Amino acid sequence: MTNHASQSAGWQVEQSASEAYEQYLVPPMFAPWADRMLETSGVNEGDRVLDVACGTGIVARRAASRVSESGSVVGLDINEEMLAVAAEIAADLHHSIEWRQGDATELPFSDESFDVVYCQQALQFVDDPGASVREMRRVLEPGGRAVLSVWRPLDYQPAYMVLADALEEYISDEAGTMMRSPFPAWDGKKLRTLAQNAGFDDVSVTIEIGSVRYPSVEEFVRREAASSPLAESITAVKRAVRDELVGEIKDALQTYLDDEGIVSPMESYVVIAER
Ligand SMILES: C[S@@+](CC[C@H](N)C(=O)[O-])C[C@H]1O[C@@H](n2cnc3c(N)ncnc32)[C@H](O)[C@@H]1O
Repeated sequence: MTNHASQSAGWQVEQSASEAYEQYLVPPMFAPWADRMLETSGVNEGDRVLDVACGTGIVARRAASRVSESGSVVGLDINEEMLAVAAEIAADLHHSIEWRQGDATELPFSDESFDVVYCQQALQFVDDPGASVREMRRVLEPGGRAVLSVWRPLDYQPAYMVLADALEEYISDEAGTMMRSPFPAWDGKKLRTLAQNAGFDDVSVTIEIGSVRYPSVEEFVRREAASSPLAESITAVKRAVRDELVGEIKDALQTYLDDEGIVSPMESYVVIAER
């Protein structure tokens, strides 16, 4: 990089958004939530598990070690790039996982073929969430369960509320909208109704509270940007703009800065629906 480029260019993206997602977002955020979800839902040795919208496969990987060789795990996602990263990481695992490309609203599996269906932080991105939850029920064995998590609205995610506003102000409306999209304005009642309308009789909805930590505000913004579908436009921002954006986020999140960087609460709904 020339001197001039380093003055004017912003963050460099050297890997795909899927690789960045696995490297930057899975360890501090999706892996701990996957562990919590598996703990609460009690998946057992021998279970047949489906991970819907598996992304790079963290839930599937965690489930595979629990169901052992007498069980089976399938991860499905619409995005082939996410599945490629999932397959590469899982290649070294002791237990094999099947990766399938497909749509959560039209699951390519026969009726009653799984004991547990997981869907971590993805229902909010599906065009027809009702159809997706109906599909989850269809592929479950009677007595099986679907376990879903969906972030609570942005009001309960301080760091992301500030980040989305700053992206909107400094990058584009589209970048702000993209950063808000994981946090739909859904409440527990909406999720319960989705599950009941899909035919599940026994539905529990809980609010789970966790946190996420990054070594600095700059790293928080850089890692989120690199893992996002708008990685190129956000990371190409000029250095002066980036510095202002980071400065504004730092000011707004003063109360969440400590000696190890930045920490922020994160809240999620977890739905367990038994068939
Ligand atoms: C935030 S990621 C969550 C991934 C994974 N569950 C995890 O915990 O890391 C959302 C995922 O939903 C997938 N997705 C969105 N719409 C989908 C659909 N209609 N069918 C299948 N996957 C979908 C995306 O490709 C992405 O991998």
